[in-house]
Amino acid sequence: MWADLVCFCRRRPGFVAGWLALVLLLALASPVEAVPPGQISWTSQVAAAYRALGAKDPDPKTRNPDYLAGRLVDQAFLGKQLRLPDDYDPALAIIRKRGSSTFYYMTARTKYIDHVLSHEAAAGVEQVVILGAGLDSRAYRFAKQFPKLKFFEVDLPATQDYKRQRVEAVLGSLPAGVTYVPVDFDKDDLGQTLARAGYRKDRRTLFIWEAVSYYLQEAGVRATLDFVAQQAQPGSRLVFDYLTREALDKINSGEAGQRGAAARAKRGEPFLSGIKRGTIRGYLTKSGLILVEEVEARDMVGRFLIGSKGQVLGLPSRSVRLVLAEVPAPVR
Ligand SMILES: C[S@@+](CC[C@H](N)C(=O)[O-])C[C@H]1O[C@@H](n2cnc3c(N)ncnc32)[C@H](O)[C@@H]1O
Repeated sequence: MWADLVCFCRRRPGFVAGWLALVLLLALASPVEAVPPGQISWTSQVAAAYRALGAKDPDPKTRNPDYLAGRLVDQAFLGKQLRLPDDYDPALAIIRKRGSSTFYYMTARTKYIDHVLSHEAAAGVEQVVILGAGLDSRAYRFAKQFPKLKFFEVDLPATQDYKRQRVEAVLGSLPAGVTYVPVDFDKDDLGQTLARAGYRKDRRTLFIWEAVSYYLQEAGVRATLDFVAQQAQPGSRLVFDYLTREALDKINSGEAGQRGAAARAKRGEPFLSGIKRGTIRGYLTKSGLILVEEVEARDMVGRFLIGSKGQVLGLPSRSVRLVLAEVPAPVR
């Protein structure tokens, strides 16, 4: 039977190639719009792998500060999923040669959010809620410096189970200061679930929502902003990033980013929403939040990507922006 099949393929290569192309197209075009239940988020591993690569930068000024990423993510992920060498040093050399704007953006993003966390913790924040935590290592990296800080890590159950296994393997046990809260933003009531897990809305809080908003429908983005505005103590802050609507439109119309889009869609994690450039202040105001600052690519270069000799590490993607927002005091 195999011999017949091989013979047929040899005789009709065009026909076989056509069918294969059609099957591939249908697989990529199928509207998968969520991480399939039981599957570990692929993009959370990509983000951690990029941080792990950035942490190998020999220059301490541009090095990604996430020194735990390389232990939390499976090193084989580099080769199997990112078509890079399994070793971090040669993989970093290749990424830098490619001039990956996503890689430079991720380095700037880690540094910015770490900076916000240090600042907020020093200013008296008591809780940190990490929404869509993936392999975020801040609860472990900052534990010594801020031992009283209580962390809540919120994520889909399968990704969170994997994370807990990795943390136990790396640290030997799960730290007492971290509460793991399994939540599906699309289905569960975030406020109720967090409250049951011990979140206190009368305590000043920092919410970290890194690399998540663009994987949610617009309604999910709005619901999260509303939740923070309505169920957090005034003075609490939210740090997050968003994809510009302009970039999303280019991806959806096939003008740009097709390889990445196909890879994400295949794993059930397509980009679903974006915010128009220049509208973030009004977008936040609609939920009752105040814009503290928005950080664009050119600001990221100056703040986070200049090396010890004054050289620019690389140019970050202009499709994504960082935002810091605040819950205002109620008007009397
Ligand atoms: C790109 S990863 C970012 C992970 C982490 N914040 C980081 O920057 O490394 C997106 C994260 O959002 C989570 N996520 C996506 N959709 C979700 C949903 N509907 N409910 C809860 N978490 C979700 C995924 O499980 C994943 O951990």
